Amino acid sequence: MENLIAEAADIIINSNLTLALTGAGISVESGIPDFRSAEGLWSKYDPAEYATIEAFRANPEKVWNMLREMDAVVSGAKPNKAHLGLGELEKMGYLHFIITQNIDNLHQEGGAKNVIEYHGNSRTLSCIWCGKRYGVEEKRDQFPPRCECGKILKPDVVFFGEPIPADALNRSFQLASSAEALLVIGTSAVVSPANTIPTVAKQNNATIIEINMEKTHLTDSITDIFLQGSAGEIVDALVREVKRKGSFRP
Ligand code: APR
Repeated sequence: MENLIAEAADIIINSNLTLALTGAGISVESGIPDFRSAEGLWSKYDPAEYATIEAFRANPEKVWNMLREMDAVVSGAKPNKAHLGLGELEKMGYLHFIITQNIDNLHQEGGAKNVIEYHGNSRTLSCIWCGKRYGVEEKRDQFPPRCECGKILKPDVVFFGEPIPADALNRSFQLASSAEALLVIGTSAVVSPANTIPTVAKQNNATIIEINMEKTHLTDSITDIFLQGSAGEIVDALVREVKRKGSFRP
């Protein structure tokens, strides 16, 4: 593994445009379950019944039973070594953008500034009927949270059946088309269109460095360097190696 870490560090040091695509796996060590591992959220809640915009419109109270459980975990979560390490790489000038599928705000709390949120962020709630927006904290004592118009509010996260925010979609494909290195961290890469970002980067000759507990369908197809293990441990080791070999980039 040390050789692979050293190889990945060299790629990062020599890359002029490095991106990270992250998924729920990067936040598991912060106590937030992922979706598709054995104990993942979808093993408890059927996404067809709880995570589509149709399900929310039809029965928002029911969907809020799952959302409340997620909110309780996300609101208490702290960035782990993987979030902090990516924040350090950005500060050192070796990581340029993070494209995250996560809605937990932990990249920002881990020090990263250039974060593209593909699936929104759970820190605000909106009324899909009248459009009014609230901070999640101001409604935390209400269940389910309601708009002043009386309707039940929805978190500003992308449900299945909703579009990806246009600026996130366009910016991430633009970046993926010119990236020289792409870190793919803690994602099963099964949800479109986020899962096409590694392919776009690869088609433009980026080096794909995958960090995951287990292989994914990318590993034996487009991944160049597979660093198997926990995101916290591996990102931490990678940042230490970059620090040892690299220097602060202007
Ligand atoms: N370190 C590294 N990888 C991990 C860790 C860890 N500690 N824990 C889990 N993983 C890996 C799992 O092996 C899996 O490959 O992270 C991946 C998580 O995959 P998913 O649960 O499918 O999460 P994600 O890829 O982010 O899902 C994408 O699906 O349900 C939607 O909107 C939701 O954004 C989410 C999207």
